[in-house]
Amino acid sequence: MISKKLEDALNEQINKEFYSAYLYLGMAAHFESEGLKGFAKWMRVQALEEQGHAMRIYDYLFSVDAKPVLKPIEEAPVHYAKHPVEVIQDVLKHEQFVTASINSLYELALAEKDYKTQVFLQWFINEQVEEEENDRNILDAFKHINGNAGLLILDKELGKRE
Ligand code: FEO
Repeated sequence: MISKKLEDALNEQINKEFYSAYLYLGMAAHFESEGLKGFAKWMRVQALEEQGHAMRIYDYLFSVDAKPVLKPIEEAPVHYAKHPVEVIQDVLKHEQFVTASINSLYELALAEKDYKTQVFLQWFINEQVEEEENDRNILDAFKHINGNAGLLILDKELGKRE
């Protein structure tokens, strides 16, 4: 069993995770059309990870005798009049938003004394540390880039993500 309030909040999180997948797939489409295939691959893999996050919550809701509710997913941008570094800055900003959302869920689970959901959410808390670190690592790499040649080297590197 789980409280209705927590069930609703977890359903909101499913929506945010699917939106994250949409957002990153939109960024992948942008990079693909710009010829930055490595960046596109990295974003595409990230989009798949986000779907995995959503499904983790989807499955958890069944485990606690609750039900997923699949709400409409907001449209994601596919055109960015930006340098790739600014797109990655947007990714970090979005991940910080997701981290805050996971933290709120955890606070709610604490307030409701829902111990099993607290344990469940700990995976997400750790995952957010990793996700933000990954984005910061890419932003750090940009600091050492000199012009387009450096960008292409980074593109090749990011394209190795599986
Ligand atoms: Fe599912 Fe990138 O947070």
